[in-house]
Amino acid sequence: MISLLENPLRVGLQQARIPEPQILVIFGASGDLTQRKLVPAIYQMKRERRLPPELTIVGVSRRDWSHDYFRDHMKEGVEEFGGGIGNEAVWNDFAKGLYYCSGDIDKPESYQKLKAFLGELDEQRGTLGNRVFYLSVAPRFFGEAAQQLGAAGMLANPSKHRLVIEKPFGKDLASAQVLNNVVQKVCSEEQIYRIDHYLGKETVQNLLVFRFANAIFEPLWNRQFVDHVQITVAETVGLEGRAGYYETSGALRDMLQNHLMQLFCLTAMEPPNSLDADSIRNEKVKVVQATHLADLERLERSAIRGQYSSGWMKGKSVPGYREEEGASPVSTTHTFAALKLYIDNWRWKGVPFYLRTGKRMPKKVSEISIHFREVPYLMFQSASKQVNRNVLALRIQPDEGISMRFEVKTPGSSLRTRTVDMDFRYDAAFGKPSTDAYSRLLVDCMLGDQTLFTRGDEVEASWRVVTPLLEAWDPPAPPETIPLYEAGTWGPVEAELLLNRDGRRWRRL
Ligand code: BG6
Repeated sequence: MISLLENPLRVGLQQARIPEPQILVIFGASGDLTQRKLVPAIYQMKRERRLPPELTIVGVSRRDWSHDYFRDHMKEGVEEFGGGIGNEAVWNDFAKGLYYCSGDIDKPESYQKLKAFLGELDEQRGTLGNRVFYLSVAPRFFGEAAQQLGAAGMLANPSKHRLVIEKPFGKDLASAQVLNNVVQKVCSEEQIYRIDHYLGKETVQNLLVFRFANAIFEPLWNRQFVDHVQITVAETVGLEGRAGYYETSGALRDMLQNHLMQLFCLTAMEPPNSLDADSIRNEKVKVVQATHLADLERLERSAIRGQYSSGWMKGKSVPGYREEEGASPVSTTHTFAALKLYIDNWRWKGVPFYLRTGKRMPKKVSEISIHFREVPYLMFQSASKQVNRNVLALRIQPDEGISMRFEVKTPGSSLRTRTVDMDFRYDAAFGKPSTDAYSRLLVDCMLGDQTLFTRGDEVEASWRVVTPLLEAWDPPAPPETIPLYEAGTWGPVEAELLLNRDGRRWRRL
């Protein structure tokens, strides 16, 4: 039998390869993401010699910038957000490959101009007609940009042209289906890279290795041994000046439907046949298709939302969501969501998965915890006066690692037990995970590896899971209908009840 790690089909999670010469075209080049994340991430790859020397980046946006202005602006981004340029000569070489081309996303002539420019660059820089088009624009322009690129013949060659689409992909199931149709009309699924930066995180990829390269966990990874699973992605930040986007998004669209669902999939999916993109993505789709909110009749038993009010964070007072710049003073946008999900399959039937995410929580922490069943009969006295379940905690960030909680005998003559943790820490074993999520994903895309990107059917399946909540939470409602929680706390008290009602509680993080 071939093990996953020896399988020759594996392409996604393995050795470093250098992509072919190509041009990365970033639409929305004047935006934050390009300066803070994308270009610093690509530059990191340059420094690690993971890029072909011909790699060329063309920024596109409406602003009337020169190539030099774009280069300087990106340099500032790398200095401020990417840990600095390091060796000046390396930066200069990289900067020679940075270009800017102004254009309007909805004007066909802009695409003709861009097409001609890319042709010239092919001649000058030897980029062989290979292109990655990265849509880092407001989500309402995704369809338009794809259509225009298609109409200009810029996506015509499946082996040379790729399209990267940022999240959120749609704002509900219907709009995701429409967007899938639009995009799939102009290119094939093999050309489409729906990006979710959580899949680029080392610890998220490690979920696959942890589950499927160790023999001891898989036999326990099911309804027979697991009582429930908790997935938390907590952030300390608030709105960060993003009211325009966030007011119509909320935590469900911003975090839950994508980032948390990815963590959920990798935790709950069946073992894939191999590590090739489709084997993994098939299993992810299967598990999301079997997933539903715990109680569709009484949604309040399946999901809780909340909005932060003013409070204290690290000794500083912070405003409530409605006082944030750009937010409506009567906004009902939720900044916290907690869900209880069930999966109807043989492995997980009856095992609740509790997911929660929120802004202005006391700590930035992302963790998946597997809570095992209690022993059938406890003959010892527990120091904590309760039976503690074994918990396996996979810490995604920032304190990356894995811990296992179990009971031991306390020293002394009586047979009393106490809970202890066995802990693995990434930084102690390997140093901090170094590769930025975007670096990893951008290089994968340039290599044509779709393993860590979301397929069209998966995106639709995850929208379907949250649709009943969107329908319940979206319609305009009086401000008092949304539970508030003080900034710096773990969400509204209702979120505690979601678990307490089941005789459980959120893990203290
Ligand atoms: C983004 C969301 O996708 O992820 C942000 O739009 C959020 O609201 C961010 O803050 C969190 O990412 P990370 O990597 O810091 O956990």
